[in-house]
Amino acid sequence: MIIFEPSILSADMANLGDQVRQVQDAGGTIVQVDVMDGQFVPNLTFGAMVIRALRPLVELKLDAHLMIVEPERFIDEFAASGADRIIVHQETCPMLKETLQHIRSLGVEAGVTLNPETPLVTIADVLSHADVVQVMTVHPGFGGQKFLEDQLPRIRQLRAMLAEQGLNIPIAVDGGIDERTAPLVVEAGATILIAGSSIFNSKRSVAASLAALNASVVGISST
Ligand code: DX5
Repeated sequence: MIIFEPSILSADMANLGDQVRQVQDAGGTIVQVDVMDGQFVPNLTFGAMVIRALRPLVELKLDAHLMIVEPERFIDEFAASGADRIIVHQETCPMLKETLQHIRSLGVEAGVTLNPETPLVTIADVLSHADVVQVMTVHPGFGGQKFLEDQLPRIRQLRAMLAEQGLNIPIAVDGGIDERTAPLVVEAGATILIAGSSIFNSKRSVAASLAALNASVVGISST
């Protein structure tokens, strides 16, 4: 089962509630909220208040991707605001296992992600404490960037690492996902495809974008 997870970074911020409702009306089950602090990544977005604002509007799962330094400072606030999943960067968590355990202790799914240049071995010993592992297929910070093809072997390598540890944890990918790249990452082993600009754009509706993305992976499986 392939899940497309719209990233709201590319959504129309002046109509965010309506954009997220369009995802739900189109059969979407989750959206990713891209939290950026202008320090870990060179862009500044929003905090837990966006989760708080969206929470009462939709049934969708709300996934907070924390692209911030010292994310431990805000985990409780994101959980209390209604986040169903919180994803932290390996690069920002010196006590990564404990951070993932803390997220789970709040009844929230814990995710770990890492930048394209960060070795996978840095998360090898925490995989059993994660509910999802996210591979960045762009350098985090902005939507609309070019998909990094060199991440395809890393997705396969991560899949092998999870299998070695007997872990059945979904692999998410984030960045540059569209109808061309979606089949590639599914073949490599990803089952959660986070997409921003290929879903939220002026060329077609959210529903049409999701339909096109889902159609692009029909009959595609990991090889
Ligand atoms: C980038 C964000 C991604 C981004 C994806 O830092 O984490 O989720 O919004 O946008 P696209 O799909 O346009 O690459």
